[in-house]
Amino acid sequence: MTTFQEAPALQERPDPRQSIQLRPPTSEDGAPVHNLIRKSAFLDDNSLYCYLAICTHFSQTSVVATMGEDIVGLVTAYIPPEQPDTLFVWQVAVDTVAQKQGLAGRMLNAILAADACKAVKFVETTVTSDNAASRAMFASLARRNDCGIDESVMFDRQTHFLNLHDTEYKLRIGPLSKDTLDGEQK
Ligand SMILES: CC(C)(COP(=O)(O)OP(=O)(O)OC[C@H]1O[C@@H](n2cnc3c(N)ncnc32)[C@H](O)[C@@H]1OP(=O)(O)O)[C@@H](O)C(=O)NCCC(=O)NCCS
Repeated sequence: MTTFQEAPALQERPDPRQSIQLRPPTSEDGAPVHNLIRKSAFLDDNSLYCYLAICTHFSQTSVVATMGEDIVGLVTAYIPPEQPDTLFVWQVAVDTVAQKQGLAGRMLNAILAADACKAVKFVETTVTSDNAASRAMFASLARRNDCGIDESVMFDRQTHFLNLHDTEYKLRIGPLSKDTLDGEQK
């Protein structure tokens, strides 16, 4: 079985004095992105291969935030083939060094302002009932767009997770008002 040495990014802290830049992820970001996810509370840690695939195939609908050489923020998202008007946000993570400074909102806006999202009118995501920060972040997105949030069960604890994971509730936000985006390009 392949094992990995603990990456330096898990021990070293980014310098908060450096400004934060946004850009689409590349395949080389897969490993640092995986490390950021592993440090984040509430997020499921998937395989490195999974993040390599996401950074490669969904780079136009995902974003990384960098502070110098370090990745301090990430949004992975995609447009489901059957729902061309919807951006499905899979994971959002912000390093503790950069939290509560509007970075998550800035990253979501950057993706929604990208060419790949021209037809997008709704954002969907899933959240557990106890993730207050995530719920606040998507409530803030709805407020900025002056639209509502519909909530329903997407993946149920018993039916889908074999009782091993809390129920994931789908939040459907929209219709978005594109002019409220700040137009930040990745
Ligand atoms: C959720 C998370 C991505 C938010 O990132 P962030 O950059 O700190 O968020 P922002 O600064 O853009 O804040 C967005 C909104 O959420 C609110 N918020 C952020 N963190 C919060 C917290 N811990 N508790 C309550 N509200 C919070 C902010 O006040 C803001 O609301 P406002 O626009 O009404 O002022 C970050 O806390 C994180 O990485 N958490 C761990 C992983 C996770 O839970 N990801 C989401 C599930 S995919």
